[in-house]
Amino acid sequence: MRDGPGRWRERLISAREEERRRLGRDLHDTLGATLAGIRLRLETAGAILTDEPEARRLVTEAAAETGRLIEQIRCVVGDLRPPELADSGLPGALRRLAAGLDGMSATVTADVPDGLPDLPPALELAAYRIASESLTNALRHASASTVAVRLRTDPRGRALILEITDDGVGAASTGHGRRGTGLASISRRAEELGGGCAVLPRPDGVRGTLVRAVLPWGRP
Ligand SMILES: Nc1ncnc2c1ncn2[C@@H]1O[C@H](COP(=O)(O)OP(=O)(O)OP(=O)(O)O)[C@@H](O)[C@H]1O
Ligand SMILES: [Mg+2]
Repeated sequence: MRDGPGRWRERLISAREEERRRLGRDLHDTLGATLAGIRLRLETAGAILTDEPEARRLVTEAAAETGRLIEQIRCVVGDLRPPELADSGLPGALRRLAAGLDGMSATVTADVPDGLPDLPPALELAAYRIASESLTNALRHASASTVAVRLRTDPRGRALILEITDDGVGAASTGHGRRGTGLASISRRAEELGGGCAVLPRPDGVRGTLVRAVLPWGRP
């Protein structure tokens, strides 16, 4: 069978992902660039208007507001496609994510191989978001002293296996079965790709939580 439902779903997600990237680039290049130009002119005008304090105040305010708008656009664009992923690919982005959180309240490590196969952007984005939310959860809710991110391809090479393990209090003991936006969102991301995401007690008997996501690609 050339085009099973999994293949169609993947194409649909890839198309959506491509569209989001294009939107992000357009927002950045058009609105972002135009607003940066406007801010520059307002700042210049503000500097010239030394004899007109009221006009100067208004222009300076407008420049500051334009700056805030540029920042908001930057956030929206970053959310469409995190710049870390664009800059360093999935392995680099995961390492940077872990390094950025390491040492604040827990030791955070990333065990991520280089030389992954070429992955669909939608899959990379899902893996990054799942890791990011799970790390945040571990640091917010678990009182963990170590959190580890581990990425592997499965032996048949058709799926990413992403695991986030902590040695905290355990999701069952804090969540009372509650599923907030974060866990619902990471499950949906994995399921959209034909995979799944489970939040489990650690299987090695150590106290803590294991979040395990299986993210397949190229499924017939
Ligand atoms: N690693 C973990 N260790 C302990 N408890 C956890 C862990 N991950 C999740 N939980 C529990 O599961 C609950 C649901 O997590 P979820 O991410 O869905 O929501 P949240 O983090 O509370 O809020 P948000 O919607 O902002 O993510 C958490 O409130 C927490 O009680
Ligand atoms: Mg959360």
